[in-house]
Amino acid sequence: MSNKFFSLVGRSALVTGGASGIGAATAGLLCELGAKVALADINADGLIGAKERTGASNTFVGDVSVEVEAEEIVAATSDALGGLDAVVNAVGPRYITTPMVQGLIDENKIDTKRLCDRTPIDRLGRPDEVAHAIAFLSSDWASYITGEILFVDGGWMAYGGAGDVKTF
Ligand SMILES: NC(=O)c1ccc[n+]([C@@H]2O[C@H](COP(=O)([O-])OP(=O)(O)OC[C@H]3O[C@@H](n4cnc5c(N)ncnc54)[C@H](O)[C@@H]3O)[C@@H](O)[C@H]2O)c1
Repeated sequence: MSNKFFSLVGRSALVTGGASGIGAATAGLLCELGAKVALADINADGLIGAKERTGASNTFVGDVSVEVEAEEIVAATSDALGGLDAVVNAVGPRYITTPMVQGLIDENKIDTKRLCDRTPIDRLGRPDEVAHAIAFLSSDWASYITGEILFVDGGWMAYGGAGDVKTF
């Protein structure tokens, strides 16, 4: 599906960490906007459910922190999707209520109140809010943006240094 504002039809994307959290939310949105999407993750079981939920066409199991595995995944994705579109932008998120962060909250390893007090928007973020920024940066609407880091953090970075609150 595409909308009248922007579309990712004709684009190809590899989403690493695509079985969960921000990766899965991003993959789902990129698919919804018309991109062909492959997922890579070390969690083989997680990839099965994520493929179904997101609409991704391919999945690859591997550890992207291992150079040779990352190269194999990129090559396999490029073969499967007929090439890959690369952009040189990044999104800096924090604190987003993914399974990883929720686990830390449940174990009382993150002090949610202190984080919210320290965040101008006064709440944690959602995975879809990060996915929106990634979709924008992947689209023609960001055609004159490169080498950029877009912070999706409720104003955390604008407010001050990362060391201004004890989170653990
Ligand atoms: N959630 C946040 O607030 C937050 C803040 C800052 C940075 N991040 C970063 O964003 C990314 C996604 O985080 P999330 O919160 O969605 O976590 P998550 O745990 O929900 O999902 C991470 C996914 O990455 C996979 N993965 C982990 N290591 C991998 C590897 N070496 N190779 C391939 N797959 C791997 C996991 O199996 C999992 O499916 C992480 O890199 C995390 O450090 C998250």
